[in-house]
Amino acid sequence: MKSRRAVDETTERLATAGCASPRVDAEILVSHVLGLSRSELALEASRKVSRPEEKALERLVARREAREPLAYVLGEWGFRRLTLRVDRRVLVPRSETEIVVERCLARIAGFAEPRVLDVGTGSGAIALAIADEHPRALVTGVDASSGALEVAGANALRAGLAIELREWDLYTGLPAGPWDLVVSNPPYVLPEEIETLEAEVRDWEPRAALVGVGATEAVARGAVDVLRPGGALVLEIAWGDAARVTALLGGLGYAEVTTTEDLAARDRVVEGTRVS
Ligand SMILES: C[S@@+](CC[C@H](N)C(=O)[O-])C[C@H]1O[C@@H](n2cnc3c(N)ncnc32)[C@H](O)[C@@H]1O
Repeated sequence: MKSRRAVDETTERLATAGCASPRVDAEILVSHVLGLSRSELALEASRKVSRPEEKALERLVARREAREPLAYVLGEWGFRRLTLRVDRRVLVPRSETEIVVERCLARIAGFAEPRVLDVGTGSGAIALAIADEHPRALVTGVDASSGALEVAGANALRAGLAIELREWDLYTGLPAGPWDLVVSNPPYVLPEEIETLEAEVRDWEPRAALVGVGATEAVARGAVDVLRPGGALVLEIAWGDAARVTALLGGLGYAEVTTTEDLAARDRVVEGTRVS
């Protein structure tokens, strides 16, 4: 079989399975198996796919047909400058979370050795991206899931970045500071919303990474106690939740509360400054 046909057949199967971007996924899977970039694949439409490659592709396509997230099927996913290992123990890092990192870097720019706490670190995406892009930042990531912490630890090793990782339940308060920055992408899906999510999220990603009633409030409240005066809280929020979270931070005494939009012009980040 030629690579063009492999892409066409895979596209058809993924479309039938209900995948949202069947051709893109097919190109990524075929290029992954052939060890090519997507642009190289486009130039090598007549490349022969060997029998072992066909078998390897079949295994991956069958997983994607079952609506397993592409990131889990590939076993890794790009996040800012890093390629992170991901599996069912962690949420797949999202593009809107890259904007959270952008805001964090802006808040600690100019600090020699800022102390940063990432609450609900999952794969370590936020913590590691901050450590990568502000090399002298002292970053701690906490999570209640030991499985997630294993993945984050493996990602730190792979990236050659030193961060501290601790098992911690955010509902018990936050680790003692003083921190210059507390950041969190907490679980914020409401239990009643879970059935409305696409199959990849609903059926595959860890429920504890998605659903967390009161988690945003717990982080915002906990951060008041552990941020140094003048320190910043940066939160990723659900669509449509900006007004509520802005009011929450105002009520807790944070100053200069602002929001930042994602690429689809929806407010997805709320941040504020702890006053003394
Ligand atoms: C939405 S995911 C964010 C993962 C990662 N920070 C990211 O942005 O891709 C939320 C994370 O919070 C963790 N979590 C859920 N409940 C928690 C709790 N009570 N205490 C600490 N972490 C918790 C989950 O295990 C998950 O890794």
